Order: sequence, then structure tokens, then C-alpha cells
Amino acid sequence: MKNAIFIILFSLLCFFVSSSFAEDNLYIGSKACKDCHEKEYSNYFKYAKKAKSFESIRKMEKKLTPEEYQTCFECHTTGYGKKGGFISEAKTPELMDAGCEVCHGPGSLHAESEDPELITREMSMENCNTCHSKDRIEAFDFKPLLFGGAH
Ligand code: HEC
Ligand code: HEC
Ligand code: HEC
Ligand code: HEC
Repeated sequence: MKNAIFIILFSLLCFFVSSSFAEDNLYIGSKACKDCHEKEYSNYFKYAKKAKSFESIRKMEKKLTPEEYQTCFECHTTGYGKKGGFISEAKTPELMDAGCEVCHGPGSLHAESEDPELITREMSMENCNTCHSKDRIEAFDFKPLLFGGAH
């Protein structure tokens, strides 16, 4: 009986220790994918407008209030408002632009382990709709382009 209680308490302890040490999956920026995915990386920088999406908003910064400017970050940067995502140009320069991880999800655990299970491959329009929202879709027919804008 005493043993059973001990085992239960010990298991609980292990659970709490391991869960508090479990690593979060964080955003690491497109450059961190480069060495292992040379082809996707160079195609993305050559062809995807996303690779210049910070430039697009910076051009308009002067015409906007700081509050208005901040609303652009949600779609024109990587992971803004999410854990480990874009904060500011000074603090997280590697997450300026809408990078690989806006589609593939945060990549720190995948980059460390090289485990393909730890990165999103299958995508649907849901993955795009957060930024290519309804009023933007009307202006921009991207639906046949699920594989566009990438690499
Ligand atoms: C240290 C090397 C390394 C880094 C860094 C890395 N990857 Fe990978 N990635 C791999 C390997 C290895 C595979 C498995 C390749 C295979 O199965 O053919 C893979 C597979 C993938 C896949 C396909 C997953 C699947 O289910 O087939 C995607 C998507 C991917 N990586 C995206 C990324 C992104 C985005 C980044 C940067 C955030 C990144 N990778 C960083 C090594 C890396
Ligand atoms: C985090 C926001 C975000 C997500 C998620 C997102 N996009 Fe985009 N996408 C953008 C922004 C911002 C631009 C415009 C960049 C610019 O011109 O400044 C863009 C541009 C594009 C373009 C224009 C053509 C080009 O050469 O880049 C296509 C096509 C596109 N995205 C497809 C997709 C698809 C397909 C998905 C889903 C798999 C997706 N996007 C997910 C933000 C996003
Ligand atoms: C809800 C997501 C979202 C927000 C918020 C957002 N954008 Fe965009 N933006 C996009 C997408 C998606 C595209 C590309 C597709 C399109 O043209 O509809 C784009 C395209 C652009 C382009 C056109 C680039 C080109 O090459 O034609 C400019 C400029 C731009 N955005 C500036 C801004 C500014 C400035 C803000 C903030 C006031 C902002 N955006 C906020 C999603 C967003
Ligand atoms: C607009 C969304 C989008 C962006 C941005 C994007 N990808 Fe992808 N990626 C996709 C889609 C869609 C696939 C295809 C999945 C499939 O075929 O199953 C894919 C597939 C891949 C694969 C697997 C390719 C293969 O043939 O096995 C790798 C690796 C990858 N992407 C890496 C990257 C890297 C690195 C970046 C940034 C430099 C990036 N992706 C940016 C949407 C995107």
C-alpha cells in the first residue's frame, strides 16, 4: 500500500518535472531553414512577394499612425502576437516578413531534431485565410494558387 502511494507520487512528480521542461515550438525565421532547404529558400527569396512583405509596410509607415502601422504586423511579419513570434524590428529582425513559418508553422523543434513530423506539410485554405481574408480574396483571386506564393 505504502509502495503504491509512493509510486503514484513519484509518477506525478516526474510528470510535472517533464512537462515544465518540455520545450515550446518557437518561430526561428526563414534564414534558419536555409542550410537544410537550400532550394525552397532560394526560390522563396527569388519569387515570393512574402519575402518583401516588410518592405511593403515600411514604405507606408510615414502615412500611418503608430497604432495603424502596428496592425500591419499581423500579416506582414512572422508570428506577430503569438508565442515566440515577431515583436519589433529591433528585437526580432529575423521575423520581419511573412516567412516560411507563416505557412509551415513554428520551426524550432523541427530544426533541432530534423523530424518531419514536427513541421506542418499538409495545408488547406484555412492556413491562408488568416491573412488572405475575405475582403482581400475578392481583390485577389489566390484560390487556385494554394501552391503559389511559396517556392
Ligand atoms: C538541420 C536541418 C533542418 C533545418 C534547420 C530545417 N529542416 Fe526541414 N527538414 C529537414 C529534414 C532532414 C527533413 C526530412 C526530409 C525528408 O524526409 O526528405 C525536413 C523536412 C521538412 C518538411 C517536409 C515535412 C514532411 O512532412 O515531409 C518541411 C515542410 C520542412 N522541413 C520545413 C522546414 C522549415 C520551414 C524550416 C525552418 C523553419 C526547416 N524545415 C528547417 C531538415 C531541416
Ligand atoms: C501571415 C500571413 C500570411 C499567410 C498565413 C499566408 N500569406 Fe500569402 N501573403 C501574405 C502577404 C503579406 C503577402 C503580400 C506580400 C507583399 O506583397 O508585401 C502575400 C502574398 C501572397 C501571394 C502573392 C504572390 C507572390 O508572389 O507572393 C500568394 C500567391 C500567396 N500569398 C499565397 C498564399 C497561400 C497559398 C497561403 C497559404 C498556404 C498563404 N499565402 C498564407 C501573407 C500571408
Ligand atoms: C489581414 C492581413 C493583412 C493585414 C492586416 C495587412 N495586410 Fe497588406 N497584404 C495582405 C495580403 C494577403 C496581401 C497580398 C494579397 C493582396 O494583394 O490582396 C497584402 C498586400 C499588401 C501590399 C501590396 C504589395 C504589392 O506588391 O502590391 C501593401 C503595400 C500592403 N499590403 C500594405 C499593408 C499595410 C500598410 C498594412 C497595415 C496598415 C497592411 N498591409 C495590413 C495582408 C494584410
Ligand atoms: C505560402 C505558403 C508557404 C510558404 C511561405 C513556404 N512554404 Fe514550403 N510548402 C508549402 C506547400 C503548400 C508545400 C507543399 C506540401 C505538399 O506538397 O505536400 C510546401 C512544401 C515544402 C517542403 C517539402 C518539399 C518536398 O518536396 O518534400 C519544404 C522542405 C518546404 N516547403 C520548405 C519551405 C521553406 C524552407 C520555406 C521558406 C524559405 C517555405 N517552405 C515557405 C507552402 C509554403
